Amino acid sequence: MRTAVCPGSFDPITYGHLDVIGRAARLFDRVIVAVFHNPGKQPLFTVEERVELVREAVAEWPNVAVDIGDGLLARYALLNEVRAVVKGLRSGADFDYEAPMAHMNGRLAPDVETVFLAARPEFSFISSSLVKEVASHGGDVGAFVPPHVEAALKRKFVR
Ligand code: PNS
Repeated sequence: MRTAVCPGSFDPITYGHLDVIGRAARLFDRVIVAVFHNPGKQPLFTVEERVELVREAVAEWPNVAVDIGDGLLARYALLNEVRAVVKGLRSGADFDYEAPMAHMNGRLAPDVETVFLAARPEFSFISSSLVKEVASHGGDVGAFVPPHVEAALKRKFVR
């Protein structure tokens, strides 16, 4: 069984993330969406809230599981018999951010490949940060996140 992990902050999950996860689920037998704490970011949603939002978003895919990631991604991958880390790339800036992590993870866990999927053009401008900014000003984010995520954002930004 070939298992891939899609790691990230998912604060919150967007249609861009879901496109990558769905494509990974067609390439691998099993996909784990691992919600990590990124110390470089101050999240809007708790890790438990993010996991719940991801769980509802991926419920229709039988081979996709959701987990809380803890510690090093490379160690998480080894412990969970993961063959590949799957990430989406929207731009050169994403590549510049992701490539050093891919190389570091490759040194820490040489048998775990990082696989980059090119973001589909229609999702290439969507980011959790922009979605939160638009939602914080009362803007419509229905085209960028599933309805339950939109509702959760509205609850966070209720005035
Ligand atoms: O969605 P993000 O915030 O860009 O995801 C970044 C994430 C969580 C995948 C990255 O910070 C990560 O892998 N964290 C786990 C800790 C770790 O392994 N750090 C070393 C990376 S080489």
